[in-house]
Amino acid sequence: MALTLTILCYIAALYCFASAAPYDGHGPTSSQNDADNLNLVVEKDGSYKVNVRGQTWLTSAPTFFNVDGQPHEEGGTLALVVKDSVQGSDHFGRYTLYNFQYQAASSRINTNIRVYEDRPFVYFSQNYETGAKGTQAANVEHTISGFPSFRVQEVTTQKEPLGYLAYGGIHTGDTGKQLGIFSPSGLNITDGLDFGPIALFDGSGDALVISPANNFMSVSNWVIKDGDTNTLSYGIMGGVHTVPVQFGVEFLVYYCSLGVNQAFEGWGGHLRDRYGRTDKFVNDDLSINYLGYWTDNGAYYYYLTEPQKTYQQTILDVKANADQLDIPYKYVQYDSWWYYRGNTNGVKTWVARPDIFPDGFVYLYKNLGLPTVAHNRYWANDTTYAKANGGQYNFILESSTGRAVPNDQKFWDDLLRNASSWGLITYEQDWLNAEFDGVIEPLHSDVTLGDTWLTQMASAAAKNKMTIQYCMAGSRHIMHALQTPVVTQARASMDYHPGRDQWKIGVSSIFSYAMRIAPFKDNFWSTSDQPGNKYKQTEPSPETQVIVSVLSTGPVGPSDRIGYSNVSLIMRCCNAEGLILKPSKPATAIDDQIYQTALGSNYNGANGEVWTTYSAVGGLRFGIIFVPNITGQYSITPTKAGFNMTKNQLAVFEAHDTRTMAKFSEEQPLHISGCVPSTPCIYHATPLLTQYPPVFLLGELTKVVPVSPQRVTSIDVTGNEVKLYLQGVPNEVAHFTFSVDSNMVTISCQFGSRSAVLDLNAKSCQ
Ligand SMILES: *[C@@H]1O[C@H](CO)[C@@H](O)[C@H](O)[C@H]1NC(C)=O
Ligand SMILES: *[C@@H]1O[C@H](CO)[C@@H](O)[C@H](O)[C@H]1NC(C)=O
Ligand SMILES: *[C@@H]1O[C@H](CO)[C@@H](O)[C@H](O)[C@H]1NC(C)=O
Ligand SMILES: *[C@@H]1O[C@H](CO)[C@@H](O)[C@H](O)[C@H]1NC(C)=O
Ligand SMILES: *[C@@H]1O[C@H](CO)[C@@H](O)[C@H](O)[C@H]1NC(C)=O
Ligand SMILES: *[C@@H]1O[C@H](CO)[C@@H](O)[C@H](O)[C@H]1NC(C)=O
Repeated sequence: MALTLTILCYIAALYCFASAAPYDGHGPTSSQNDADNLNLVVEKDGSYKVNVRGQTWLTSAPTFFNVDGQPHEEGGTLALVVKDSVQGSDHFGRYTLYNFQYQAASSRINTNIRVYEDRPFVYFSQNYETGAKGTQAANVEHTISGFPSFRVQEVTTQKEPLGYLAYGGIHTGDTGKQLGIFSPSGLNITDGLDFGPIALFDGSGDALVISPANNFMSVSNWVIKDGDTNTLSYGIMGGVHTVPVQFGVEFLVYYCSLGVNQAFEGWGGHLRDRYGRTDKFVNDDLSINYLGYWTDNGAYYYYLTEPQKTYQQTILDVKANADQLDIPYKYVQYDSWWYYRGNTNGVKTWVARPDIFPDGFVYLYKNLGLPTVAHNRYWANDTTYAKANGGQYNFILESSTGRAVPNDQKFWDDLLRNASSWGLITYEQDWLNAEFDGVIEPLHSDVTLGDTWLTQMASAAAKNKMTIQYCMAGSRHIMHALQTPVVTQARASMDYHPGRDQWKIGVSSIFSYAMRIAPFKDNFWSTSDQPGNKYKQTEPSPETQVIVSVLSTGPVGPSDRIGYSNVSLIMRCCNAEGLILKPSKPATAIDDQIYQTALGSNYNGANGEVWTTYSAVGGLRFGIIFVPNITGQYSITPTKAGFNMTKNQLAVFEAHDTRTMAKFSEEQPLHISGCVPSTPCIYHATPLLTQYPPVFLLGELTKVVPVSPQRVTSIDVTGNEVKLYLQGVPNEVAHFTFSVDSNMVTISCQFGSRSAVLDLNAKSCQ
């Protein structure tokens, strides 16, 4: 049945984007610019190499499996019994499959490498045909298997030494992320349970992304340090002692020639396609689309009320004050201060305490008239919901840690259905890492329990028409959300505290966007000084806070003390009823920032934070360059900003000063310097609308995003006539600025209904 491997060495050319011409098996079929190659070389002995443009970027290290209490490694006690290669095809096209069958003690385990003919990726799979016992590793942070495994060796391409960006830790790979040179001494990543996707790049545009591709909750990577022969291995997490029959795990190596942002975008696009993750829940999520009031860590009212008032009264007063000031909060987020806690501070009963809300959560919700976003944490082993404690539901309790994990669909269904009576629209699951890392034995040893936990939670949210925000999520949770599109948002950095630089979400937002999860910066203060605050701090740049929040595309959540809101600053986010006027994608750190951070003096990029995004309106792209901090000078071109997808000539201007308007092209870059977090720089790039006279739309300059799809639904350019189709709120006034033959023209629109048409030539808006 099995074919013998007759081809000693096979090279497949793969392209960043599928080429239209049929693949002939002999190299590039077209001269298009994505003819850059990803080559996979499989040798007769089963070793393999990943080549980019003919140069080896990754060289395999021996495959290993722990079975029957012992590690078994190629070249040692791991016996390769069969190898073959077969052709096949699936949803993603034709592939060659290289199969390796191993005998590891009493277990039969297969691996394979799936090389697609016209796709820029390779899959590596492990399949436990007979299952395995006695697999547990010495440390839960290790892996019980290694395939693929790569040697960590310094690689110098024609351009640069290879650099890496490795996500890791919590908050969408932010807290443990590392950048550096891919070499035995330079590779210093967060591996084990808190590992994340890794990108390799040389600064020229070529980039690889390496990650799991299934069973996200039960796999890890592991860097084995052994002098100069360090290896990077992928496999099942170290705590697993028994692998079920036919259990399999897959890993993906994805290639792109268009830079690290595009590599993650292509990688995420492939995985979203594979898992059918829809954007519907993100697009419809009220807490992503509208301004809300927040009370989590960093907020003024985090474990604090107004003097002599209950939380119930404090929240009602926040709303009354906001109504007076016309701050259109559309929901309130209630953090961990309102429910019952048990052992190790875990949640005991997720209902409101009478000392917090004396008249109950339902009363507060009805009197406030705003929907609820509510926090939850890890479960305590004395939770009243568990059957063992007299409750109705199945939980797994762990006495050594005092924690618990629910294992009952009905529990989640009931929990969230009950919460709908007090207006829950978004369930915030915080402490995801503490639940996963904290319920040690069950979640670390079972290959399916982590998946069951998150899938049941998501299924209950979907049934109750709610969405989920992840907080303190490891990369494993974030990637698991490929399967649970109701997870619409996730924190992308540490908790806010006035003065902390947790606004730096430009790098984590790349990962978040690849998964189409809206990144959340966390709450913020809109004025610097808020007397009586528990942090004894001031906020140095409320403006940076607002800009980052809006450009994230995630929630925008002020958390001010009553009487300490900067209303005009907050309202730069939104229209008059709190609809966030946002760009079409999260602002992300440009490639030149990432290359510079990773490659250091080997590269000449951006020293600091340079993030870009754009609004796509009517086939045009309005670019935004946000520079909250930079050292020295940096010259950015439309290509480096990711804006050169439109054919129109571009102009660029500094947001606070339209007189700075200038041409923006590859030949006429924008020179950036002197931007610091207290006075961040923000620039807008805008396409030429008509040639005679030259007309540019600068937009609604009082907003962070002056041209957003939420405000401008389409732009009609006929001959030299320009019309904007606008959306707003009855009685709202929006001022739109244009440059007409280098003169600034501002037209004011007062909305009579929810829409208006601005006619530039008639200077009217109706
Ligand atoms: C690795 O990174 C950690 C976290 O940033 C740091 O504390 C440690 O010093 C680094 N180790 C090396 C060898 O660079
Ligand atoms: C819960 O955990 C505590 C330790 O925090 C332990 O003493 C107790 O026995 C556990 N109870 C149950 C029901 O597992
Ligand atoms: C939901 O509410 C019902 C009725 O009050 C209660 O019996 C049940 O325990 C609640 N379940 C959860 C998980 O909240
Ligand atoms: C509100 O914010 C704007 C922009 O940062 C600032 O110019 C203004 O002084 C602030 N107003 C108050 C009252 O703090
Ligand atoms: C701004 O960048 C400089 C130079 O890279 C750095 O020293 C400084 O800490 C940064 N400031 C903030 C608030 O990130
Ligand atoms: C964008 O820039 C890339 C790289 O310089 C170039 O190959 C491509 O042709 C440009 N696209 C447009 C539309 O200008």
